[in-house]
Amino acid sequence: MKVLLVGGGGREHAIAEALRRSPQVDQLYCAPGNAGIAKIARCVPIGTMDFDALTAFAEGENIDLTVCSMDDPLCAGIVDAFEAKGLRIFGTPANAAIIEGSKAFSKDLMKKYGIPTAAYEVFDDADKALAYLESAKMPIVLKASGLALGKGVLICQTLEEAKAGVAELMTDRKFGDAGSKIVIEEFMTGREVSVLAFADGSHYKLMSSSQDHKRAGDGDTGLNTGGMGTFSPSPFYTDEVDAYCREHIYQKTLDAMAAEGRPFRGVLYFGLMLTADGPRVLEYNTRFGDPETQVVLPRMKSDIIDVFQACIDGSLDKIDLQFEDNAAVCVVIASGGYPGSYEKGKVITGLDNFDGKEGYYCFHAGTKFNEAGETVTSGGRVLGVTALGKTLLEARANAYKAVEWVHFDGEYMRHDIGKAIDAAQ
Ligand code: AMP
Ligand code: GLY
Repeated sequence: MKVLLVGGGGREHAIAEALRRSPQVDQLYCAPGNAGIAKIARCVPIGTMDFDALTAFAEGENIDLTVCSMDDPLCAGIVDAFEAKGLRIFGTPANAAIIEGSKAFSKDLMKKYGIPTAAYEVFDDADKALAYLESAKMPIVLKASGLALGKGVLICQTLEEAKAGVAELMTDRKFGDAGSKIVIEEFMTGREVSVLAFADGSHYKLMSSSQDHKRAGDGDTGLNTGGMGTFSPSPFYTDEVDAYCREHIYQKTLDAMAAEGRPFRGVLYFGLMLTADGPRVLEYNTRFGDPETQVVLPRMKSDIIDVFQACIDGSLDKIDLQFEDNAAVCVVIASGGYPGSYEKGKVITGLDNFDGKEGYYCFHAGTKFNEAGETVTSGGRVLGVTALGKTLLEARANAYKAVEWVHFDGEYMRHDIGKAIDAAQ
């Protein structure tokens, strides 16, 4: 079959790799793709928000299945645009993608259906938000309700910081319209776990757990980023935690969405915090996580095409979703300065070192070809070097060995990805 993948980040490279492994895929296209994806798919220069051009391409090339796992196109209705033309697509329709697109919606959903999450209030008026803060307990968390590249969350230690945060989000509109409404939420503590689930509207199947590292610097210091590295599985996602979440979170969320007339199909990402009072939902996403996907999909045994088709057809309950009994670690190599300003166009050397090395992947996030045909940096997060191992410790050692194989000027990475693994030994 012919498959079109929409996107061009590290997550899409990992999805492309999983699609390439499926014996059902004869031809893989990616719009727009990147220099790494170009090795395994035919990249076509169409933007991810250009639904007219994407549907025209799918029609013109007789694409059998399109796959999209990006928040902006999903929330803007890419699935609806394809389906209106009778085209088959894996992803979440806009009316359900709102679970990520509006934090006010997702918090209200959790409150209405008794799904455990931090206590909160929603504000669309800066003065009321400021008045509320006067008697609120610190630290406190402010979140832009709309999409903000995962960066619209402020953790404020003092009242002064929180007041400045309200001004940043609501008055200065640092994240644009995403900040016209904000959620002010109780600060929680605990380990974080990402759990991704396939969903078909009424059933779900869980993928193996993982953990992201969102802050830029070692020891979880510095600014929030899109994610600097991941490991899978999470040793903290125990059978007990799993049982609690199955009872109180996963099915309840799917049932709540269905009851609201917004049946959820696609990938539902549960960002969980394991607090002293039990697991709580930090956030939902309507897509594969990035860079969680880079450690989860290389461990998946099942044919991803079968799973995608079952999600579309409502037959996920018939799928026996299987993962290898191993582990993976991904270390992101970023451009120096990220998540602030950084330079682009640096030549990347050593990519060939990954050729033929089983259990090692160099997923490209921000790369492209320059006019000389060299692979150069084109984004903040550039590469996601991923390694498998029998254990998390082995996978981590392998990943930190493999990051030495590639280089570019100004490269930056965290050196403590997976440090939490030590606490579980
Ligand atoms: P979110 O985009 O909502 O997942 O938030 C980004 C990050 O901010 C999370 O991964 C947590 O590290 C942190 N965070 C979000 N909400 C809270 C909360 N209520 N308490 C403590 N930390 C939080
Ligand atoms: N890694 C976090 C996210 O994909 O939102």
